[in-house]
Amino acid sequence: MRIPLAKPVFDEEMKSAAVEALQNEKFVMGESVFKFEEEFAQFCGVKHAVSTSSGTFALQLALQALGVNCKDKVVTTPFSFIATANSIYCAGSTPVFADVNPKNCNIDPQYAKQVLSNEVKALMPVHLYGYPADLDSIMDLAEDGKRVVVEDCCQAHGAKYGNRKVGSFGSVGCFSFYSAKNMTVGGDGGMAVTNNEEVANHIAKLRDCGRISHYEHDLIGVTARLNSVNAAIGRVQLRKLEDWNNKRRAAARLYNKLLSDLDEVELPPSETAELSPVYHLYAIKSKRRDTLKAYLEGKGIQCGIHYPIPIHLQPIYRQLYGYKEGDFPNSEGVSKKVLSLPMYPELEPSQIEQVSQGIHEFCSQTLT
Ligand SMILES: Cc1ncc(COP(=O)(O)O)c(C=O)c1O
Repeated sequence: MRIPLAKPVFDEEMKSAAVEALQNEKFVMGESVFKFEEEFAQFCGVKHAVSTSSGTFALQLALQALGVNCKDKVVTTPFSFIATANSIYCAGSTPVFADVNPKNCNIDPQYAKQVLSNEVKALMPVHLYGYPADLDSIMDLAEDGKRVVVEDCCQAHGAKYGNRKVGSFGSVGCFSFYSAKNMTVGGDGGMAVTNNEEVANHIAKLRDCGRISHYEHDLIGVTARLNSVNAAIGRVQLRKLEDWNNKRRAAARLYNKLLSDLDEVELPPSETAELSPVYHLYAIKSKRRDTLKAYLEGKGIQCGIHYPIPIHLQPIYRQLYGYKEGDFPNSEGVSKKVLSLPMYPELEPSQIEQVSQGIHEFCSQTLT
């Protein structure tokens, strides 16, 4: 593709950091891991960060450390990457879905309120595409500590809600460093951030086989540590993240300007004085999404669909819980319309113009 959907960065500085870590540190739990955790906590404005081998494990272990168990339910969105709900299932709990607001594709607190019960011990909002969920309302639903909130920030590194970064609102905020995210560690990786020291220590123990010392274990944990080499790459990426996020915001502003005259295309919600998204994805909506995607790809412009099948309609979720079409109409509606356009920090204005031109051509030349 002439213009890819995403373009992860791996430069000389990251290469040197990786080689240095491999040569001078323990492969697992080396010095870089702890430095990365400290720096990431500082970046998020929280006291503690615990790295994991993936975002999914960060979410799962956060729920377990918060005491969410098999008798409990966790309210989340059906319109996310499947790992959000999987983490709840793998923590031994039951996901309960609440439909999204079709404008921003994030969980709608109105629907979340309707599914609350005594069994609901946690809420897991997702800041989808890097756009912050309605945290004020979600935190209200948690009712002063009766329920915990675990923020799924896997697509929202550095996004701000008011003057605070996402991840610092809930009991725990969880991040993914998978290659296509706003920052990566050169492979899979994750991070759980929290202000609660006890919870941080519990997650740290769970990710390391439940160890209290080298040979002693007082919890059933898993092997979900971040490798030192990945942490070393992550540290370099983290230093560049703010600049990269600003470049993504600038790209989004240009897309907004160039596409705003098209009736057929609905644009993602913009930044406001209160909300500062990080545009992990720039997802437009079109009723003719599939033909538009094919048209753009014919011109060498790669597009993506995040996500064509809402979680409740995935075969495994239908089988486990009996979900069917029509259960979450807003999520089903947006899953048929969303189209992610190329978005990455190095995306040139001229490339954004080419994408926009392709969309304009499609809208004017083809029948609606
Ligand atoms: C919203 C969301 N939640 C959870 C995850 C899981 O993260 P990971 O792939 O690092 O396990 C992802 C990553 O793709 C994601 O986008």
